[in-house]
Amino acid sequence: MIVVIATTEDELAGVRARVSEHGIGAVQVVAPSDARRLVLAAVDDEREAHALTSALRAEGKAAVTRPDAGVRLDAWMRDTSPLTFGDRLEVCFAWSEHDRGDASSSVELGLGGFGDGRHPSTRLILEQLLVRIKGGERVLDVGCGSGVLGLCALRLGASTVVAIDTKPDAIEATRRNAALNGMEQRVEATVAPLAEIEDGFDVVVANVGRAALVELGPDLVQRVVPGGWLAVSGISPPQCSLVADFLRPLVELERRTSGEWSAVVLA
Ligand SMILES: C[S@@+](CC[C@H](N)C(=O)[O-])C[C@H]1O[C@@H](n2cnc3c(N)ncnc32)[C@H](O)[C@@H]1O
Repeated sequence: MIVVIATTEDELAGVRARVSEHGIGAVQVVAPSDARRLVLAAVDDEREAHALTSALRAEGKAAVTRPDAGVRLDAWMRDTSPLTFGDRLEVCFAWSEHDRGDASSSVELGLGGFGDGRHPSTRLILEQLLVRIKGGERVLDVGCGSGVLGLCALRLGASTVVAIDTKPDAIEATRRNAALNGMEQRVEATVAPLAEIEDGFDVVVANVGRAALVELGPDLVQRVVPGGWLAVSGISPPQCSLVADFLRPLVELERRTSGEWSAVVLA
């Protein structure tokens, strides 16, 4: 197996030293972008590969194991290829070995938290961010998971993000991902419930599913400033009207469906 560690030029020597302490001498270094460095360490024994990965993760490093050859490697390469939206946005895992596009349009994601951009419920909101973010917006990301929606909003020109989730793991992942993309100054991530977030926002996104949307409905509506908009997702096509009813007096602007998933935009 191969252990892949996503790092930077500044931290490269330290990562190589840690890998060598595990008895792995020869490593390959890949540079998929100007900023990103990947250390690839070949480890024969699967248990040793997992032990090394766990040890590095415990130190806060983005380490993963990947197949070293064959159809499993082909599948890995396919699954880690960047998700691109024209030339405006690219989302990919930090450990992806594929070359990145322009850094100013790229969002990298590390370990933890739901959301790598590929799930239709996430993608439907990303598509709304692409057409609706004009620049300078204050964004509230409810149910942030990995932080993917908020971080992409920033890449598209939004100014700041408040990201909330009920899971502490998701908040940690969002903070790590904000730092990974140099956005830590513009992201506030917290487990505080929505009811305790007092500000108003130009953009509110919530990919949390029908039950949470119904529960959070009045608070979601109150967080949208006049002229702002709310995008909700994680619902099935037949649930759209019910959810839109719970979000009154906001008015439905658009409804989009991908397979069995739908998203509704309201203002
Ligand atoms: C489907 S994931 C969405 C992750 C990411 N925003 C995306 O679009 O890919 C839903 C997230 O919402 C969180 N969540 C569920 N109910 C919530 C609530 N009432 N308040 C805040 N977060 C909630 C879950 O913990 C989970 O991380």
